[in-house]
Amino acid sequence: MRTSKDENKNKTVLITGASNGFGMEFAKIFAKDGYNLILVARSTERLRKLGYFLQDEHQLEHVCIITADLTRPQAPREVYEEVKNSGLEVDILINNAGAGIHGLFAETDLDREKAIIQLNINTPVELTKLFLQDMKRRKSGKILNLASVVSFMPSPLMAIYGATKAFILSFSEALSNELKDTGITVTALCPGASNTMFFRRAGAAHTRAANGSLSEPAEVAKDGYDALMHGETRTISGLKNKLQATSANIMPDMALAANMRHLMEEEEDEQPAEENR
Ligand SMILES: NC(=O)c1ccc[n+]([C@@H]2O[C@H](COP(=O)([O-])OP(=O)(O)OC[C@H]3O[C@@H](n4cnc5c(N)ncnc54)[C@H](OP(=O)(O)O)[C@@H]3O)[C@@H](O)[C@H]2O)c1
Repeated sequence: MRTSKDENKNKTVLITGASNGFGMEFAKIFAKDGYNLILVARSTERLRKLGYFLQDEHQLEHVCIITADLTRPQAPREVYEEVKNSGLEVDILINNAGAGIHGLFAETDLDREKAIIQLNINTPVELTKLFLQDMKRRKSGKILNLASVVSFMPSPLMAIYGATKAFILSFSEALSNELKDTGITVTALCPGASNTMFFRRAGAAHTRAANGSLSEPAEVAKDGYDALMHGETRTISGLKNKLQATSANIMPDMALAANMRHLMEEEEDEQPAEENR
């Protein structure tokens, strides 16, 4: 249920990965609705600029910036301690920070993959564990986890990333069931390919997926926000992505994998006409 701006001024949302993409859009939506913000990422200056701007624009009481590299195993505990020291209570937790790596698993960098597993799985799990204890005490809270349309299918050329997102969907849906009737809701947001830094950072900027029709991050964040406020267990953002996720119920996994591989391959270079002659 959506609450008024006046009610929200005593509420706080923590958003990981708020310096860019969906996370930044979430920060804008929550600020507009009057929530206090705790913004977490590595890019301190970007977070500061965004935080000060939103605080000024929406007259927010508290904006707290936490610089953290969430691939570090100690980071979730440190973030939690910093929030405790600030005196703020987290009413809404948005586990958004995440990253991928493109390439054949036999050839990709294992250390980077271990960091991605830490960032995409261990960090949201630990942040959820820590903040959930406080939510349970207060008998209220909302958690949103960033899954993906790839949570529903194997992802060749992004095998580790796809598997982390399958974990997040399964984890979120199980928690949502466990927390039924407790006043706490858990929502998984499943976007499709979107116009953020994600593909560039994953080394996948030249893939078909990155050059196809992309969702706009502001619209994805709005879908996530609405689902979170209604306590939905999961939402797939965008019609095309809903269809893609539905196809996972009827197509064999190997056909889904072949389709995903096609999308994750680089678009073949178009040769100029003269060179073809
Ligand atoms: N874009 C898509 O097509 C798509 C589709 C489905 C799901 N998703 C998921 O959506 C979420 C947000 O991605 P996005 O598309 O908005 O990507 P993005 O534009 O690359 O933003 C990623 C955010 O995560 C933060 N981040 C990355 N590594 C971090 C680290 N080690 N420690 C702390 N923060 C870190 C980044 O901040 P700093 O660099 O400042 O640390 C940035 O704010 C991810 O979980 C992603 O898997 C994306």
